[in-house]
Amino acid sequence: MPDPGVTLREEVPGDATAIRSLVTEAFRGAAHASGTEAQIVDGLRAAGALSLSLVAEGDAGILGHVAASPVGIGDAPGWFGIGPLAVRPDRQSRGIGAALMQAALARLRAVGARGAVLVGEPAYYARFGFAPDLGLTVRGIPADYVLALPFAEPARGEVRHHPAFGLEG
Ligand SMILES: CC(C)(COP(=O)(O)OP(=O)(O)OC[C@H]1O[C@@H](n2cnc3c(N)ncnc32)[C@H](O)[C@@H]1OP(=O)(O)O)[C@@H](O)C(=O)NCCC(=O)NCCS
Repeated sequence: MPDPGVTLREEVPGDATAIRSLVTEAFRGAAHASGTEAQIVDGLRAAGALSLSLVAEGDAGILGHVAASPVGIGDAPGWFGIGPLAVRPDRQSRGIGAALMQAALARLRAVGARGAVLVGEPAYYARFGFAPDLGLTVRGIPADYVLALPFAEPARGEVRHHPAFGLEG
């Protein structure tokens, strides 16, 4: 669990600037970062596609953030993409990322989601139950980094993210 004093909450109007700064800072220099992660969050919000936007807040303001948005996989309903997930560099490795991910998964399950996908490092996301799924593809992404966590039956096919991700090529 994160440090005492760190709380999780949904984003509220007025958080967008702090979230943008945090996401930019977290991904600066991160392996596989595109540098567009903050724009993705802004784009999802502007399009009304930010299904979930959770912040971790502590003594120094917003310390972490996770986003989720609907994805299309064939005609399977109720699948969501999780990400970006970002924690302020000076507060990493204290459980904030894990707390955000667990809260995001709990909220998605609570609204009847059928599963979650993400593009990320298997070594980190395995702890939440995500695993590479050879039945799923994301255009331009190596199979090892396409991770899925079905809440019921698996889905099969190409994962179509919101255009804000810039993955459609
Ligand atoms: C990835 C990230 C969100 C994790 O948040 P966090 O609060 O630091 O994570 P937690 O405290 O829950 O977990 C820390 C553990 O995850 C591990 N970890 C972090 N990033 C990892 C990665 N890319 N690959 C493998 N393990 C990773 C840490 O080594 C640490 O391991 P330990 O528990 O054995 O010490 C955060 O490091 C971050 O914002 N990174 C930069 C942006 C990024 O890469 N986001 C993910 C995109 S896929």
